[in-house]
Amino acid sequence: MKITLTAVRVDLGAVGGHLQPSEKIVSAVRDTIKEKTDDLLIDSWIDFTGDDITILCTHEAGKENPEIRKHLWNGFEEGAAAAEEQGLYGVGQDIRDAGVTGAVKGLGPAMAEMEFEERPNETFLVFAVDKAVPGAFNLPFYLAFTDPMHCPGLMLSPRMRKGFRLTVMDVLYKEYDREIVLDAPEDLYNLAALLREQNRYAIRRIESRGTDEQALAASTIRMSNIAGKIMGKDDPVAIARVQDPFPSSGEVVAPFSIGPFVGGFMRGCHNGPLMPVPLSTKVSYFDGPPVVSCAAFGLRNGRLTPPIDVFDHPLWDHVRSRLAAKTLEIRRQGFFGNAMQPFETIHYGGLVNILRDLDERFEIMRPPRD
Ligand code: 13P
Ligand code: 13P
Ligand code: MG
Ligand code: MG
Ligand code: MG
Repeated sequence: MKITLTAVRVDLGAVGGHLQPSEKIVSAVRDTIKEKTDDLLIDSWIDFTGDDITILCTHEAGKENPEIRKHLWNGFEEGAAAAEEQGLYGVGQDIRDAGVTGAVKGLGPAMAEMEFEERPNETFLVFAVDKAVPGAFNLPFYLAFTDPMHCPGLMLSPRMRKGFRLTVMDVLYKEYDREIVLDAPEDLYNLAALLREQNRYAIRRIESRGTDEQALAASTIRMSNIAGKIMGKDDPVAIARVQDPFPSSGEVVAPFSIGPFVGGFMRGCHNGPLMPVPLSTKVSYFDGPPVVSCAAFGLRNGRLTPPIDVFDHPLWDHVRSRLAAKTLEIRRQGFFGNAMQPFETIHYGGLVNILRDLDERFEIMRPPRD
């Protein structure tokens, strides 16, 4: 049975600025999406991480289906209406600025879709990030799919021996989508050279080179820098199929224990460690730190099992303590150096204006001082 998974992250407004959507918003979205169960959709699941709602739908309508998008959009509208009624902050943040109704690709909500022949024991993970750029997934997914230090399955499983094929998107490339396909292990150094630059390059898709089946889809969207304001969708979502020809759940989630510094913390302008958190976790300190949740599902004929909350485990409590210390440590240096995003990717025109004004006040010293 050919099934499509459609996963979306959308910010429709939140309580406390950008901390958490209200229960009313989440219910409004959930109720609207559920209306089409057994009709357009086979099944769905709705939750939140930080201030973005995560929607997962299963169906047989294929990728980029206009009816599915229209239905999702109705859900977003209902959620935004609930936010408006409660007087919440940033009502319809990801849909009202997007302009054209239904323009899911481009500036609006973040979407990851995958169509595949359902395995008899299909199992997959949904990762949801808040306060981070799409490239925040680069390091953990690179390690999970290409590095035997983190993914022993690359040595131990004959089905994974040929490695994986990664598609990487240049999210800052002018007005076009531009992507490159690189094979691991041959292209490992090339992959590292690109993936180190999280603000520009983001993993979009991973396939098994043994079976050609798709393992991973992530919601990478081209960003555009319009007059010093970055437009586009941060707070990504990714779907990773696991087991058999793919890494195991544990191999995919283990590299998240690193908690690498990612861009997108406070006003999208700061760097902070990506902290793995349980489902339905808000953000708090300095509007963060950047967070990632992981829900594991089983699937039969498109029907979802209830999710397992992967980062809700004592081991991850220890990781969280370490990353809380890492967060507080980088925040001690305030605006300085690596604590903030490079100038080119700062979201706020304010800084651009300050530097433009100051530029006029610089004096060229003639003759030179030395
Ligand atoms: P706004 O620009 O939407 O106010 O968001 C910034 C913010 O709330 C940072 O705390
Ligand atoms: P979101 O993108 O999660 O809405 O965060 C906005 C922000 O600037 C928080 O400081
Ligand atoms: Mg927000
Ligand atoms: Mg958000
Ligand atoms: Mg956002």
